[in-house]
Amino acid sequence: MFTIITGSQFGDEGKGKIVDLLAERFDYVVRFQGGDNAGHTVKVGKLTIKLHTIPSGVLYNARLLIGPGVVLNPLVMKKEIDSLMDIGIRIDNKKLGIDAKTSVIMPYHVKLDELSERMRTKKIGTTKRGIAYAYMDKVSREEVRFADITDKKSFEEKISDIIPQKKVMLKAMGATDSDIDEAFEFDDILAVGKELKRYITDVSLELNQALEQGKNVLAEGAQGTHLDVIHGTQKYVTSSSTIAGSACMNLGVGPRRVDEVIGVVKAYITRVGEGPLPTEVGGEIGEYLREKGGEFGTTTGRPRRCGWFDAPLLRKAVKLNGYT
Ligand code: IMP
Ligand code: MG
Repeated sequence: MFTIITGSQFGDEGKGKIVDLLAERFDYVVRFQGGDNAGHTVKVGKLTIKLHTIPSGVLYNARLLIGPGVVLNPLVMKKEIDSLMDIGIRIDNKKLGIDAKTSVIMPYHVKLDELSERMRTKKIGTTKRGIAYAYMDKVSREEVRFADITDKKSFEEKISDIIPQKKVMLKAMGATDSDIDEAFEFDDILAVGKELKRYITDVSLELNQALEQGKNVLAEGAQGTHLDVIHGTQKYVTSSSTIAGSACMNLGVGPRRVDEVIGVVKAYITRVGEGPLPTEVGGEIGEYLREKGGEFGTTTGRPRRCGWFDAPLLRKAVKLNGYT
């Protein structure tokens, strides 16, 4: 059984909570797009942990996978693994797998994201995690893949061809000398890469085998439908495809395999960052929704813009995702 779950609005619909409810039924919980721009909060007793890259449902028995369509910041991943280990949740290579082809978010991607947002007169309000620039490198075939950072020699070979052009870009966009030093600081990445090597896997192969054996797979979308890079509210979108069809493409699972598509809907609407929000309400009511709903971004802490439930927007999301 293959189930896909996506946010039907602008993200932050509470997908993490729903995945938590469903996780017990699944053998696999898989991320197929996005990066550490996403975020969900896990509460264990009195402890609160904020996660950005590890899929929801980490507290259950499901195996967690990071698909090759994700952009992965290895330093963030390492921190999350450590914080989970600290509270006694064992993240070994039975629990977690990362596809060898996953694009790595490099320090220069984060810098370029910051600099381009600074140069824009019309801001997007990105999370400044380097998401767009990591995806640009995938498409322009200048990416560093997860497998590359697990081996120093192949990493150095690859990066030597990439550094010169990134330097030109950074300088043209106003990077300072210290920005440039930080942008090409790779020691931590290589150290973490070596440590994370044990998680390496082939997600498409694993999932196809699992589905053939009748196992239950849940593909968990990040962000929300109207932040989709093709079907969303350009230019105020994220840099990946967030709708259900994206799961098949990004995971390497054929569309005939899909059994269920679940959409998560919040009874009101929120948006973090710039862009249209036709039903936005300001003043006292907006403030009330924000306070009651705890509507502050998990990743950036920014207050979310709040508004009334938007039926036409949901109708469009139903079509884009084919919710069952
Ligand atoms: P980026 O993904 O950091 O490039 O940000 C692009 C837009 O998507 C900005 O408006 C962000 O606020 C928004 N965004 C990115 N990730 C999330 C998320 O997980 N939830 C809600 N909004 C997000
Ligand atoms: Mg979130």
